[in-house]
Amino acid sequence: FSSASSDVDGFIGCLSASIPPSRIKTPASTNYSSQLMSAVHNLRYVLPGIARPLVIVAAGEPAHAQATVLCGRRNSVRVRTRSGGHDYEGISYASIHPNEHFAVLDLGELRSINIDASRAEAWVGVGATLGELYYAAGAANKTFGFPAGNCPTVGVGGHLSGGGFGALSRKYGLSVDNVIDAVVVDVEGRLLNRSTMGKDLFWAIRGSGGESFGVVLSWKVRLVPVPETVTVFSIRRLRNQSAVELITKWQEISPALPRDLYLRVLVQNQQVNFVSLFLGRCGQLVDTMRARFPDLGMTEGDCQEMSWVKSTVFFFYNTANLPAEVLLNRTGANYFLKVKSDNVQEPMPRQAWESLWDKWLEKPEAALVMLDPYGGVMRTISPSATPFPHRNDLYQLQFFSFWFENGTETLEKRLSWVRGVYEDLAPYMPKNPRSVYVNYRDLDIGINELEGNVTSYAKARVWGEKYFKGNFKRLAAVKSKVDPDDFFRNEQSIPPLPAAK
Ligand code: FDA
Repeated sequence: FSSASSDVDGFIGCLSASIPPSRIKTPASTNYSSQLMSAVHNLRYVLPGIARPLVIVAAGEPAHAQATVLCGRRNSVRVRTRSGGHDYEGISYASIHPNEHFAVLDLGELRSINIDASRAEAWVGVGATLGELYYAAGAANKTFGFPAGNCPTVGVGGHLSGGGFGALSRKYGLSVDNVIDAVVVDVEGRLLNRSTMGKDLFWAIRGSGGESFGVVLSWKVRLVPVPETVTVFSIRRLRNQSAVELITKWQEISPALPRDLYLRVLVQNQQVNFVSLFLGRCGQLVDTMRARFPDLGMTEGDCQEMSWVKSTVFFFYNTANLPAEVLLNRTGANYFLKVKSDNVQEPMPRQAWESLWDKWLEKPEAALVMLDPYGGVMRTISPSATPFPHRNDLYQLQFFSFWFENGTETLEKRLSWVRGVYEDLAPYMPKNPRSVYVNYRDLDIGINELEGNVTSYAKARVWGEKYFKGNFKRLAAVKSKVDPDDFFRNEQSIPPLPAAK
């Protein structure tokens, strides 16, 4: 909505009828800034000139979310939903349209986790972080795990809305492959669950990137079995220690490894770090690595055995010498961020890695490069089972640029590094479309435009098919059914499918 059509006073008056005033924060409230900043993970989207919410509603119960949606509709104030605030492009708390009037529905407090250990299932409030979920699962039973991302402060709400990929995904798929129910507030303000929302909506909310279909309040997930003891390692190699040869080989070896073994690569400060989780003991891991990737030279001395929960600490902090309680820390680092990524289908030739290194990785502003393998069970799941279509790809390649100092020069340098390397890699990446995983949101690939008063489907296909390939049309068809007036809308929300002419 533009500033002309929104009735902000009417919106606040409407909210006040059902939500305590202390939970409704306007820029005049003393705690507006602290509420806004409590879950901002990209400082680029709180710089001057970026539109901020007119109102933040800190929901304390489901009824607050229902009232926010209904009051927003009645008063033409659009609502952006925020759970953990990790969106790469900040679209849960900011708008790139300077004149947009919007509110933020902040769900950070809805974070209860109720585990039914006898069934290995859990209801998880969307405001919980992945770290809180991992900790609770491990506390309930050392052999419970959950497949999701490697950063513990990421919110369950947005993460599961976009798919959820991590160290257990080769064994158990994405987070959404393990979602068995959900509670959603729809555009009419109703609370729906799996049986009342119907199959199409339940399909759409599990991987379409959040926001488009309603507000998810909680997810019911299946906890997956992990051994009491798992093994991790981290092996670093410099360029003169065959780093480039090893990455080149990794591209084919890693997606084909047994499902119990996840081997990712991080490249930072001109060092390559091979980081692994193995769902078993050291001896077996060494045997597998010797047979499948002898060039890495992994030995028993590289093994660290620990519980699965501790392995999630290791994956984020790169050390196991921290207590599992660090997973309960909800505040992540605050930095400026720009990420670009690909789903790679063919290994890049060695000379491409050499020239990437020479031209880009030696620059001081080089990003953290992350390579995460698919394969394993991911390949056995149909690309249309959920909106996430990248099931048969080899690996994810991310250029994750983060920096701490504010300033136009730094910003431009960083952005042009990430965009430059992305452009240079085009010849090696799939075309039609060059594809991206929606949880690695990138507004460079296209943003929505209106056609009449709804988002244009034709224009949205440009970015939408990069995230969802053939599933995009089905998502748009679901949108036409559940939110035909396009209330739940942002820069990359799913548009309604126009009626066939
Ligand atoms: P946030 O609150 O910003 O929401 C993201 C999007 O979902 C927004 O559009 C928002 O409106 C919508 N949304 C949020 N809550 C919703 C709800 N309850 N109902 C409906 N819509 C909702 N991903 C991955 O798969 N594997 C990984 O290992 C990582 N690692 C990682 C590390 C770091 C440091 C960052 C910043 C991000 C990742 N990610 C990731 C990406 C992450 O999964 C993605 O950004 C998620 O959407 C973040 O979810 P939040 O709830 O934190 O974000």
